[in-house]
Amino acid sequence: MKFKDIRALATVQGPARTPSERLSRRCYSVEDMRRLAAKRLPGSIYDYIEGGGEDEVSLRRNRSSFDDWSFLPKWGSVENLDLSSSLLGGPVSMPLTLAPTGGTRLFHPDGESAVARAAEEARVPYGLAHLSTTPMEQVSAAAPGLRRWFNIEPMADKAELQAVLDRAAAAGYEALLVNVDCRAIGHRERDYRNGFTAPPSIKLKTVVEGALHPRWALGFLAHDAIAFPNLDAEIPQGPLSSTPDMWRTLLAGSYEPTDWDDIRDLRARWNGPIILKGVVNPNDAVTAAEIGIDAIQVSNHGGRQLDHMAAPLDMLPDIVDRAEGRLEIIVDGGIRRGSDVIKAIALGADACSIGRPYLYGLAAAGQAGVAHVLKMFRAEMTRTMMLLGVSTIQELRLEGRDLIRHRNAPFARTSPAPEASHGLEEMGIPS
Ligand SMILES: Cc1cc2nc3c(=O)[nH]c(=O)nc-3n(C[C@H](O)[C@H](O)[C@H](O)COP(=O)(O)O)c2cc1C
Repeated sequence: MKFKDIRALATVQGPARTPSERLSRRCYSVEDMRRLAAKRLPGSIYDYIEGGGEDEVSLRRNRSSFDDWSFLPKWGSVENLDLSSSLLGGPVSMPLTLAPTGGTRLFHPDGESAVARAAEEARVPYGLAHLSTTPMEQVSAAAPGLRRWFNIEPMADKAELQAVLDRAAAAGYEALLVNVDCRAIGHRERDYRNGFTAPPSIKLKTVVEGALHPRWALGFLAHDAIAFPNLDAEIPQGPLSSTPDMWRTLLAGSYEPTDWDDIRDLRARWNGPIILKGVVNPNDAVTAAEIGIDAIQVSNHGGRQLDHMAAPLDMLPDIVDRAEGRLEIIVDGGIRRGSDVIKAIALGADACSIGRPYLYGLAAAGQAGVAHVLKMFRAEMTRTMMLLGVSTIQELRLEGRDLIRHRNAPFARTSPAPEASHGLEEMGIPS
């Protein structure tokens, strides 16, 4: 090469000026963001996000279920590619929502407000957890244009329930996300081994962890103490261990036995849409439709509750068929790529929801991190649709099952059998 050719190749990259520019140069996938979050957080806090119930079989299956499906792209032009659609009667810029996650300020001091602002900017809904660490009204004030949903348990104490519903309605929460997978709390053994508590108790191990993660420790110490301000119940002072007792303490009334009558009761009390979260059994989807529930979130709580609970994607085709379009279907669990969302929509879901991916973004870089995760999902969905040969979410839902194939599906001939016998008969072999 001549000197001028070499000089033409020489490039100098200036320093990144904003957090989002820095992330654009470092994080090309949710997996990159996960690695960054793992570096930023003390091990016990990271494990609280990452872990699942017992042997974590559901957790792993959530992820591997997406690998069982392959795309069958079709040839043809793709024009005016558009990811927008509607969900529960309102617009979404892409078929994605942010799932509720309790204790979010443990991961970054800006917590739920940062998540809400990023979701508002991306024009996707966010489900705020009952066990959030920011008051629901403060989240509303941080992101007034956000489509926000509120996550509760089917509580037996109706006075307590009504108080929460009134508060959520007054704070502008349009829909309820009702858990039906938390009758007991999953056995999250990583948390026991780590001695995890919320908030972290101050002992030698946590002091060492904090010293090794100074950015996290300073953020934690410089901001308000972790609390659960959406609960009206009296909460004891001090750290609560991540045992069933902790949640029982926090959600006192919710652990009384509840059943379908409590869901009917909720239906009568709440004017807006209701989403049942944690359904994997097609019979429950049918019952939900029959009693006027608007949507289900097919979910096994990200593998954190009943281990060996079916992976949501595995159950999706059955649920879609049994629901017969009577309710909307959101899927969560193991979604890490835009292509995962496209697979679920092709199988008949209306939208997908993510938990850990946005928490990685939050832990790594606050609001900019969540925004970057949403940006990556949008770019991956766009690219996947382009390569698959579909222009709109509507088209994907209509033609989806022709564009995707399970690895165990029997071979299905899509064109007529060829006339020729390939000479098999001449060889004495029936064709
Ligand atoms: C740290 C953490 C806290 C969670 N807290 C709640 C919660 O308070 N309520 C709830 O319904 N689901 C909760 N979930 C489950 C999520 O809403 C969602 O179902 C799950 O994270 C989806 O799986 P994914 O993390 O693989 O995306 C939590 C998940 C995580 C990771």
